[in-house]
Amino acid sequence: MKTFLTAALAGVAMAFALPAVAQQAYPEKPVTILVPAAAGGPSDTVARLVAEAMTKDLGQQVLIENVGGAGGSLGAGQVAKAAPDGYTLLLYHVAVSTFGALYPDLAYEPGEDFSSVGLVTDVPMTLVGRKDLPPADVGALLAWLKGEGAGATFGTAGVGAVSDLCGRLLTEATGATLTVVPYKGTGPAMTDLVGGQIDLMCDQTTNTANQIAAGEIKPYAVTTKEPIAILPQVPPLASSGLDGFEITAWHAIWAPKGTPEPIRQHLSASLRKALVDPVVIERFAGLGTAPVPADLATPAALDARLRSELARWNTLLGDAGQR
Ligand code: MLT
Repeated sequence: MKTFLTAALAGVAMAFALPAVAQQAYPEKPVTILVPAAAGGPSDTVARLVAEAMTKDLGQQVLIENVGGAGGSLGAGQVAKAAPDGYTLLLYHVAVSTFGALYPDLAYEPGEDFSSVGLVTDVPMTLVGRKDLPPADVGALLAWLKGEGAGATFGTAGVGAVSDLCGRLLTEATGATLTVVPYKGTGPAMTDLVGGQIDLMCDQTTNTANQIAAGEIKPYAVTTKEPIAILPQVPPLASSGLDGFEITAWHAIWAPKGTPEPIRQHLSASLRKALVDPVVIERFAGLGTAPVPADLATPAALDARLRSELARWNTLLGDAGQR
């Protein structure tokens, strides 16, 4: 009888101990970072650079899965519902803080259903046009949009995407009307802008810098208060008649709610190592951005940023609903 009881108790102990053992061995298999936008876009570019560096640190492949659609809210929802075991992560940006306001039937709570890992980078944005768009500069563009350019086509990654948010702020600040053309990411949207199928985009430098340098698209303005180092001649919208205009795409990594704390801390430490990787620093700089400092690549810093951004966008978007 005693032997049976000992074996039974050992079995129970094993059942409870397994998660701790699993946590100590984490990661035992590849980790997936889900990017809720099509491959080839700005979020995908950031994710692949970070994933490459985290692979070195974690000793397991960090793979990228792209799930585009609905501004990123579809892919983010997949991560919100994923097993909280550290093997499915979300890398996205400010858009996560807008989904609650823009998608009334959202099946998850962005402020509740994720476990913060850390901030990654804050990417400037650029207002860019197809290379043969008539206006020569941002002043002429803003006038054109109120005249013969009314209804110009404007590519986005869908409702709530940061490219969409920039468009909303632009129309609100100018009274211009845009014909929004949603894509599964601004990677495919950029193909159409370069091809001349759409007129304008407001997109992150991680997607526009190379095309601007190649002369494939026309840069009109940046969305930062000050000019940015890689585009010193491109004026801010904030000093082109749209006082106070500012939007940038702060990127972060989340895990599903309920991810064990040791795993979350392990991932956050790996992220901080990735952000001081010389390749990441150099590639980010060439694309107009930089990794956040170590104290921001932490769960607490992301919790605070998401809390303040949820409040900001809920106020700004209020009853905006889907456009
Ligand atoms: C967006 O919010 O516009 C997305 O980041 C675009 C993308 O990454 O494809």
